[in-house]
Amino acid sequence: MIPFVAGAIVALGAGWAGFPHVIYKSRPQPVDFSHRVHADKAGAKCEDCHAFRGDGTFAGIPTLDKCAGCHAAPMGDTPAEKNFIDQYVTPQREPQWAAYARQPENVFFSHIAHVKLGQVKCESCHGNQGSTDKLPLYQEDRISGYSRDIWGTAGRPAMTMDNCVDCHRQQKLEHSCLDCHK
Ligand code: HEC
Ligand code: HEC
Ligand code: HEC
Ligand code: HEC
Ligand code: HEC
Repeated sequence: MIPFVAGAIVALGAGWAGFPHVIYKSRPQPVDFSHRVHADKAGAKCEDCHAFRGDGTFAGIPTLDKCAGCHAAPMGDTPAEKNFIDQYVTPQREPQWAAYARQPENVFFSHIAHVKLGQVKCESCHGNQGSTDKLPLYQEDRISGYSRDIWGTAGRPAMTMDNCVDCHRQQKLEHSCLDCHK
């Protein structure tokens, strides 16, 4: 009896600890990017890199042309910057960033409606992501391919349907299924 119980506890413990590794695979980000360094040393504002285009669509993660102007030649002497220049700027290769907040294909989301019309702060949805020094580990569900961040990891707010609807309720907004789903 005792060996059985002990064995069961060990097996459960191992399963519990191993479970996330079975469900999620992690992917390294291409560049060791620091939001903090850009705010402190380059005085860059969010909109300098995350701009709205003329037609109101959101550019999202910036493309290399936003970086190349400053990083044509090294500005400092960090290995992170040297790697970035050698691997991406000089060969003009676009970094393939993984987007933490990326929603399932069947969901519509408009930044301009929230940021400009609704005056919702980036931080309300993305937490401290825009002021961190290190990129968090990116993990995605092996089956659905969704980012784990949607369920709220690393201390940032979750961004599930319940979170969208909760905030809309507080703001006395009513949305039908088809406002958010394609
Ligand atoms: C306005 C100028 C400017 C722009 C635009 C800019 N950077 Fe930088 N970047 C800097 C400065 C300044 C540093 C700090 C250099 C130093 O003193 O070490 C830096 C540092 C870095 C580093 C080293 C990180 C570290 O921890 O020090 C990387 C990597 C980097 N930038 C990538 C990028 C990428 C990717 C983009 C485009 C999305 C970009 N930069 C856009 C000015 C800029
Ligand atoms: C120098 C350019 C630059 C500036 C300035 C900048 N960002 Fe970023 N941002 C990036 C790059 C490059 C990434 C992709 C890497 C990453 O996830 O951090 C990114 C990613 C993000 C993400 C992650 C989106 C996702 O789901 O993957 C958020 C949120 C974000 N930025 C918010 C902000 C906020 C808020 C500010 C202003 C406080 C800001 N950023 C300023 C370049 C910049
Ligand atoms: C109301 C919540 C909310 C607010 C406010 C918000 N975001 Fe987002 N953000 C999201 C969601 C949801 C996604 C995923 C969108 C998708 O997959 O289509 C996202 C995606 C992103 C991405 C990744 C885009 C990509 O390439 O897939 C960046 C970068 C980003 N947001 C930056 C910002 C910045 C900067 C601000 C403030 C100016 C901001 N966000 C305000 C919810 C928000
Ligand atoms: C922190 C609060 C907050 C969160 C979280 C939030 N929203 Fe919203 N949403 C708003 C506000 C405020 C508006 C009204 C903007 C305006 O004034 O038209 C809005 C408007 C909308 C609209 C109508 C846009 C239009 O074109 O008129 C849609 C669709 C929507 N949100 C989808 C989403 C989805 C999907 C999510 C979750 C991924 C989400 N929202 C999360 C606050 C939020
Ligand atoms: C305010 C925006 C919003 C509204 C309104 C909304 N949804 Fe969603 N829904 C989402 C988001 C964001 C997700 C993806 C994140 C998640 O799975 O929670 C989602 C996920 C789902 C899923 C799960 C799909 C999956 O891939 O797991 C179903 C089913 C669904 N919604 C059905 C509905 C139905 C039915 C309605 C109307 C009664 C509705 N939704 C209204 C935002 C919304």
